[in-house]
Amino acid sequence: MENDYDKNSYLLGGAIACSQADGGFNEGGKGISTQDLRYLDPSWTPEQIEEKHQKNPFSRTEYETALKDMNTTYYPFRRGNDFYHHYKEDLKMLADMGLQIFRTSISWSRIFPNGDDENPNEEGIQYYIDLFSECRKHGMKVFATMIHYDIPVNLVEKYGGWKNREIISFFERYVTVLYERLGDLVDYWLPFNEINAAKFSPWDGVCLIPGDEEHMDQQIFQCLHHQFICSARAVQLGRKLVPGKLVGAMIARFTTYPATAKPEDNLQAIQDDQYSNWFYLDVLARGYYPEYMKRYFDKIDVHIHFEPGDEKLLKDGTVGFVSFSYYFSQVSTNEEDWEQTAGNLIMTKKNPYLKESEWGWQIDPLGLRVTLNQVYDRYHLPVIVAENGLGAYDHLTENNEIHDDYRIAYLKAHLDQLDEAVQDGIDLLAYTMWGIIDIVSCGPLTMDKRYGVIYVDLDNGGKGTAKRYKKDSYYWYKDRIKQHVNK
Ligand code: BG6
Repeated sequence: MENDYDKNSYLLGGAIACSQADGGFNEGGKGISTQDLRYLDPSWTPEQIEEKHQKNPFSRTEYETALKDMNTTYYPFRRGNDFYHHYKEDLKMLADMGLQIFRTSISWSRIFPNGDDENPNEEGIQYYIDLFSECRKHGMKVFATMIHYDIPVNLVEKYGGWKNREIISFFERYVTVLYERLGDLVDYWLPFNEINAAKFSPWDGVCLIPGDEEHMDQQIFQCLHHQFICSARAVQLGRKLVPGKLVGAMIARFTTYPATAKPEDNLQAIQDDQYSNWFYLDVLARGYYPEYMKRYFDKIDVHIHFEPGDEKLLKDGTVGFVSFSYYFSQVSTNEEDWEQTAGNLIMTKKNPYLKESEWGWQIDPLGLRVTLNQVYDRYHLPVIVAENGLGAYDHLTENNEIHDDYRIAYLKAHLDQLDEAVQDGIDLLAYTMWGIIDIVSCGPLTMDKRYGVIYVDLDNGGKGTAKRYKKDSYYWYKDRIKQHVNK
């Protein structure tokens, strides 16, 4: 049998998100977004930052204060790395590296400043026409996320955000404009970044403030139901308005292994996987709520309200590809005192066989291959690795060099496993390395947790020249892309 997968034809790319990169938060007619409200005091120590991030990521007081304060000092997402003003220079550097695909998100509040406006903001649309045209000029494909957590804050203020079903019609208006005005420029569409973030990081995922809700789980899952419906509508509208283009789904992948060979740990691993990962992709890719969730919802007393027609809509609006972010793996066990460490969006259980990043995320390249096999086995849909990378402290030398051999080692190990997974038979469309250029980190909200192969000279308080410098990993990735293309 001829092996189609030897071609290694997937695309190697890079990813960012508008809220973490753009800045220009009140320029070009943009409205205030939910992510513009997140607070960081640049004078905090790393320990204080971590404590805030882990224990009190967002509060009602923070929300109220931020709405009245339009400065940028304490709001890193309002500044980003100033991609809004640097995108031509940044894309040129990425194109010189040979980048094949660029993922970013569109800011809903740049297109509809209040979310419920009758007409879109033309200046916002023009920005994205220019941005995506620039990508295409450089021969890069475009992978666009419609919502990477941020929505116009007015939708939360006035309607309660995702809690209110009315948001679906505003979302449809937004998506229709995206398809009609940007459809020719975008190759892959993703309605929601990491749709499972809702449960682990409610302000990010579904714009709910911890402490505000009497029955938080009920609200989270009802909000999610509205997001599932939105995703299905985005698929349906896509078939009509951008036929031939793929609309996909994405989760933050919490890859897990049973901590021991004990049957209890194995069952725990299956359930952790179902509740944290599969549920979300099962709904979006298979088109219905999986049976195993009934018992879980009963246990946490959650009752999701379906409108007539929702079931049919979910069935009809299944996605064309699945994608995930992959940063670490964890173990599952029913032993409560198992040692813990940090992970993306969640605290995880430690695997004694793995090393950790400086933020405690367990590094597991083989887990990427495991995940790709699991996801492809389950859905048999094309797959995109939408995020993967290493957050680390980088040091800029006097000669403006960054010797990030640790990042090169991380990327090499993961890309080698990606190639192995392709040999396993996975239909891989693309790999978009996370934070290809340094941006504000999403959890701690700092600049000094850096992922990029391009360094941006800005500190946690937004001070610096904002100049861009190539790290050693830039030259390494350039070479890797060249070898990949010439295979
Ligand atoms: C993902 C998000 O969960 O993890 C990104 O989609 C985020 O927005 C990335 O930046 C890495 O997390 P952090 O907190 O290190 O920026």
